[in-house]
Amino acid sequence: MLFTQQAVLRQRLLLLASLALGSLLYLVARVGSLDRLQPLSPIDGHLGPHEDQIPLRALQSKKGILNEFYNGNTSQEQIQLHSLVQQLPKAIIIGVRKGGTRALLEMLNLHPAVVKASQEIHFFDNDENYGKGMEWYRRKMPFSYPHQITIEKSPAYFITEEVPERIYKMNSSVKLLIIVREPTTRAISDYTQVLEGKERKNKTYYKFEKLAMDAKSCEVNTKYKAVRTSIYTKHLERWLKYFPVEQFHIVDGDRLITEPLPELQLVESFLNLPARISPYNLYFNATRGFFCLRFNIVFNKCLAGSKGRTHPEVNPAVVAKLHKFFHPFNQKFFQITGRTFNWP
Ligand SMILES: *[C@@H]1O[C@H](CO)[C@@H](O)[C@H](O)[C@H]1NC(C)=O
Ligand SMILES: *[C@@H]1O[C@H](CO)[C@@H](O)[C@H](O)[C@H]1NC(C)=O
Ligand SMILES: *[C@@H]1O[C@H](CO)[C@@H](O)[C@H](O)[C@H]1NC(C)=O
Ligand SMILES: *[C@@H]1O[C@H](CO)[C@@H](O)[C@H](O)[C@H]1NC(C)=O
Repeated sequence: MLFTQQAVLRQRLLLLASLALGSLLYLVARVGSLDRLQPLSPIDGHLGPHEDQIPLRALQSKKGILNEFYNGNTSQEQIQLHSLVQQLPKAIIIGVRKGGTRALLEMLNLHPAVVKASQEIHFFDNDENYGKGMEWYRRKMPFSYPHQITIEKSPAYFITEEVPERIYKMNSSVKLLIIVREPTTRAISDYTQVLEGKERKNKTYYKFEKLAMDAKSCEVNTKYKAVRTSIYTKHLERWLKYFPVEQFHIVDGDRLITEPLPELQLVESFLNLPARISPYNLYFNATRGFFCLRFNIVFNKCLAGSKGRTHPEVNPAVVAKLHKFFHPFNQKFFQITGRTFNWP
């Protein structure tokens, strides 16, 4: 008991210290007396149209510590003092699984006006959670300033039958983000994640080829979930019964990995946010072969290592069959969304 109290106290002291440091650095950069510091601060980019609506915040608050702090056991007075609120999401990353939803959420969180829900909440796809009601959902959201927007991601939303109607009932104008990758690669990545789960439990698992192909017909097995999830247009069509196509934005998950900034700028524009994510915020880590995120001079973050798994070798004939299988669905998806990818 005493130990946890001490731990909490220590955490708060640390937080206060880092807040103080952050505010100081921020002030120094903001005042502009040290021009050299200017490009270091993501907050000091040129001013966008809604600049005055985005509260100026200490550098530290973006790193999430503040949110976690308030999610902990802060008094009501402290929350009110900072006018923090828990808001329903104004944008949701609805999928797709293995498309890069986590990377997208983390990268969008670089934006000072965006606050992420760290956990996948599974509110709309899980009947039990959904039964707890909208107020339960809202209370799962992080604290934010009123002018910030909250974003959550749950990739199962995209493929779950009931979800579009449920989200529509919450807010029929909510913005929907879908991050996709080339469908065959995505299916193999999906399989790889399941395989690793089995391996961790020392269980054997089928080869990808066996699952993805029907043994009798030697055709693609459309009952296999990893294949079905990659038929993007089928799922999207269910969503379009509730939302107009303009309410969706498609993110290129393959490009987000190699060239994140232009993809993020498209999302900023879709969300009507001033362009605030800059090259400063994303640096390439050669050891990882992946971009890391820089929130400010003191805080940066690399995505978890498990996000870049190596895929098993898949029989090229099976890959070719899958390419051919997905092709017409992809064409339809491009036609509906107005975004075309260089997929086979
Ligand atoms: C939070 O506060 C309540 C009452 O103020 C206390 O009973 C509880 O132990 C606290 N929890 C933590 C994790 O500090
Ligand atoms: C619904 O979502 C739109 C788009 O993000 C947002 O502008 C609006 O404030 C939301 N409405 C409510 C009630 O949250
Ligand atoms: C899996 O097998 C290895 C070696 O046979 C063993 O060391 C490990 O404890 C096993 N793990 C589980 C979760 O059973
Ligand atoms: C780059 O990645 C390596 C390996 O994951 C990690 O140990 C290192 O801290 C990273 N460097 C930076 C500057 O983020």
